[in-house]
Amino acid sequence: MDWQHRYDVGDTPWDLRGITPPLAALLAGDTLRALGLPDSADVAVPGCGRGHDLRAFAAHGHRVIGFDIAPGVVDEARRLLAINRVDGVQVLCRDILGIGPEFERRFDLVYDYTCFCALPTHLRDRHASETATILRDGGLYLALAYPLRDFGGRPQGAGPPFVVTREDLLRAFGGAFALIAEFEAQDSVPLRAGLERWFVFRRAARA
Ligand SMILES: C[S@@+](CC[C@H](N)C(=O)[O-])C[C@H]1O[C@@H](n2cnc3c(N)ncnc32)[C@H](O)[C@@H]1O
Repeated sequence: MDWQHRYDVGDTPWDLRGITPPLAALLAGDTLRALGLPDSADVAVPGCGRGHDLRAFAAHGHRVIGFDIAPGVVDEARRLLAINRVDGVQVLCRDILGIGPEFERRFDLVYDYTCFCALPTHLRDRHASETATILRDGGLYLALAYPLRDFGGRPQGAGPPFVVTREDLLRAFGGAFALIAEFEAQDSVPLRAGLERWFVFRRAARA
């Protein structure tokens, strides 16, 4: 998939043009603190696209790094952050399947929305192992899983987005992680209502 080409031609149906409503709802509550997230945490957002959700974490006092493989959208995300005068956020052009060595143990939380589902399914284990590398011991992988099933008459197995089930996440994140919470997404946009759900995995302590 040539992601930059999709951005260049304006074929970006995934882009909600603003902060993801279920994320805004989650950050407004106490759930993440109750799960152990520090008040001022280091947060990574793989496949951040135009970076709308980076603003949400920054607004709650977290330090955020967004990663995307498409150079043009990284520039665009930086521009949008500057326009919105957001501090404490970086956007880097990186392949998230190779960020482990550079960012080992750097993050308390990895937030994934429409990144896991964008990757070809054979790369999911790799994504999980890079995520395990960049998280500190006890760090959280927070996934707003979407789409939970095929939708809109799409043929079975079509993608991206590739369907993301609970079992898919457990398969990929079963090794170094434990599933510690899952709950319904609040405030999904109408086209995604019933197709997304929160899952929180905790990274095990290294030996
Ligand atoms: C479906 S889009 C979602 C973008 C953003 N999360 C959003 O909701 O608007 C998937 C994003 O992941 C990026 N991406 C795909 N593969 C990637 C990889 N291996 N490393 C980094 N970014 C990747 C794409 O460039 C694209 O911006």
